[in-house]
Amino acid sequence: MKKLILVAGARPNFMKIAPLMHALLGHQTIKPVLVHTGQHYDANMSGQFFEELNIPAPDINLEVGSASHAVQTARIMEGFEGVCLREKPDYVMVVGDVNSTAACTLVASKLGIKTIHYEAGLRSNDRSMPEEINRLVTDSISDVFITTSVDADENLLREGITADKIHMLGNLMIDSLVANLTKAQSSQLVFPLLNRNSNIQIGKDFFEGQYGVLTFHRPNNVDDPESLLRLVQMWGKISEQIPLIFPVHPRTYKNIVKFGLQTLIDSYPSLFFIEPLGYFQFIHLIKDSKFTLTDSGGIQEETTYLNIPCLTVRPNTERPVTVWEGSNKLIKTSDILTEVQQILVGNCKRGKIPAFWDGHTAERIVKMLEDLNI
Ligand code: UD1
Repeated sequence: MKKLILVAGARPNFMKIAPLMHALLGHQTIKPVLVHTGQHYDANMSGQFFEELNIPAPDINLEVGSASHAVQTARIMEGFEGVCLREKPDYVMVVGDVNSTAACTLVASKLGIKTIHYEAGLRSNDRSMPEEINRLVTDSISDVFITTSVDADENLLREGITADKIHMLGNLMIDSLVANLTKAQSSQLVFPLLNRNSNIQIGKDFFEGQYGVLTFHRPNNVDDPESLLRLVQMWGKISEQIPLIFPVHPRTYKNIVKFGLQTLIDSYPSLFFIEPLGYFQFIHLIKDSKFTLTDSGGIQEETTYLNIPCLTVRPNTERPVTVWEGSNKLIKTSDILTEVQQILVGNCKRGKIPAFWDGHTAERIVKMLEDLNI
């Protein structure tokens, strides 16, 4: 029996580990041990994803919580070293590009434990993004690389990784989407509004396809008072043409309060701020939307699968396949209004689903693990 530690820490990791855990539970030769670092810890950033995606409770929770990057990374490393020494795994698998991903890879690698990175090789080539640093660190010391698209393979080959270590097996996030779409679509789209004593309900207050979804949480966009103010003004202007629903990330909401932007937000009656959503409601919300305006990574992939126009307010993306093949477009803050106008008059970008984004990635990964000889 081989022991595999699977690491998850932050919200976007949970939909990636869910299908893998399901495929590994009860496996004859591989025993998974799930470690949650506790990078995300609120019920709506963590707990409800475990419930909805039916992920078994973590075997170990490091409960590191929020802190500066250095402190959070150090806490994860300290906790995870103890776990590795006690559990003595044969391999550690990390997913994505969050601080937990890089921290646990460093620990395992220094203890001589083989590491597998799922979602390897993605590059924004923008080192101002903490995630890009995490990707570079993780990929420079991992032993096995599982990729989601061919551009990632090319990046790794260019960086000197040999082809025998790279496995393009598709997209686990899409496994979760495929497995849960029907359930998601039966979730109720009724949301309590933040700071207002009322609810909004899709289908009652406005119709399917007649609203846009916002998600913003990147430090470049929301940590600087001027760029956040510009964004709020843009959201406000768009909301005068089509209602906007924003499940607000805690980081963004804290900055809105800190920069005194609440009154401005309240002055736009059709700009609806709600709590971060669980998986089912969020997927349902974007599936029925006219467009998504975002700075997220994973949402670029989910909208591509669902073929919903996605405007990504970033100068670059580590997921270029969503632009080449999918419904995603990179835009500047100053172009938001023009781009939304285009969508409203029917000029939407639509695309196709990238290779192997088919709901069967977890099966392919388990097969690869069975054959792995490291
Ligand atoms: C992290 C990831 C980012 C990912 C995002 C998804 C890194 C470097 N960043 O960013 O790649 O896209 O998760 O959400 O790993 N907070 C809470 N409750 C929580 C978690 C966070 O209130 O459960 C607040 C805290 O004030 C915290 C802030 O949100 O300081 C930011 O959280 P953090 O985990 O540091 O980074 P994210 O912005 O969530």
